[in-house]
Amino acid sequence: MEKEIISKIKKLKKEKDVVILAHNYQIPEVQDIADFVGDSLGLSQKAKEAGERIILFCGVHFMAETASILCPDKKVLIPDLQAGCSLSDSLALLQLKEWKKRYPDAVVVTYVNTSAEVKAESDYCVTSSNAVRVVNSIPEDKMILFGPDMFLGSYVSRVTGRKNIRLWAGECHVHAAVKAEDIERARKKHLKARFLIHPECGCVTSCMIDAFDKGEKDSIILSTEGMIREVEKNKEGEYVIATEKGILHRLKKVSPSSKFYPVSDELECKYMKLITLEKVLFSLENEVYEVKVKKEIRDKAIIPIQRMVEIA
Ligand code: 13P
Ligand code: SF4
Repeated sequence: MEKEIISKIKKLKKEKDVVILAHNYQIPEVQDIADFVGDSLGLSQKAKEAGERIILFCGVHFMAETASILCPDKKVLIPDLQAGCSLSDSLALLQLKEWKKRYPDAVVVTYVNTSAEVKAESDYCVTSSNAVRVVNSIPEDKMILFGPDMFLGSYVSRVTGRKNIRLWAGECHVHAAVKAEDIERARKKHLKARFLIHPECGCVTSCMIDAFDKGEKDSIILSTEGMIREVEKNKEGEYVIATEKGILHRLKKVSPSSKFYPVSDELECKYMKLITLEKVLFSLENEVYEVKVKKEIRDKAIIPIQRMVEIA
C-alpha cells in the first residue's frame, strides 16, 4: 500500500511539475519522498530558487506562507491546513502593534515562526540559524523588540552581548518542556555524549551558562540544520538531541554509525505530524490546500523575509 502511494506521488510530482519541500521534523516516510529536507531557512531558500510550477510544503502553515510570499507566482500547497504552530500563535498582530506603540523607535525582529501579518509589521525576520547574524547587523544603539520566542531571544541577547533587546514572552510548547534537569539527567547517563540543543528549548539559559561561563565543550546550541552539519563532521559520535524527535531520522541517515539519544521521548510536534503520505497524495491529486497571502500583506512582509534570506 505504502509503495503504491509513493509511486503515485512520484508520478504526479513529475506530471504536475512539483517540488516537495519537507522540514526536518516531518515523519520519515514524508522526508524520504521530498526533494529537499531542511530547516526553516534552508527551505525558504529552496522555495525562492524553485523552478517548478507548484511547491508542495510538508511542514507547518507559517513555512508555506513564507514560501508563498517569496514566490507569489507559484502555487504553494500544504497537505493539511490544521498544521499550525503554538509559537507562531503566541504573538498576535494586535499584540505586536501595542508593543510597537510602547517603543516607537525600536527595530522589530521576529522569528520566522510568525503569521504573515506579524511579519508585515516587522523590520527583520530571522530563523534559529541566522538570528545572531541578523541582530549583529543592526546598529548597536538601536533598541530591538525580539519575538515571539523568549528562549531564542535570550540566547541571541547573550551571544551578541546586546542589552537593548526587549523579549516577547512566547514559547514553543514542545521545546519549552525541555528543562535543565532533563539535560542533567542525560549528562549522568551518557557520559561521553555531546549535547545538541535547539535554542527554543526551555533549558537554554542553563545550557548557555554551561557552554559560555563554565566553558563546557560538550553543549552546542544549534538550529536543526546546524545539528545535521555538526554530526556530519564526526561519523562515530555520541549525541544527546534536544529538539523535536523527527530530526532523528535525518541524523541517523547522515551519520549511521553514530549513537543518538533523544533528551526525552515526548518531544513531538503534533502539527508537524499531521502531514502523512496519504495527505501528500491527496494534495497532489487535487492541488489543495493552496496557501496565498493577500497582496497588501505580502508587499510589506516580503521586506523582512528578503532580509532573512539574504543574511544567511
Ligand atoms: P529550525 O529552523 O531550526 O528548523 O526550527 C524550526 C522550528 O519550528 C523549530 O521548532
Ligand atoms: Fe511550532 Fe514548536 Fe512545532 Fe516548531 S516544534 S512548528 S515551533 S509548535
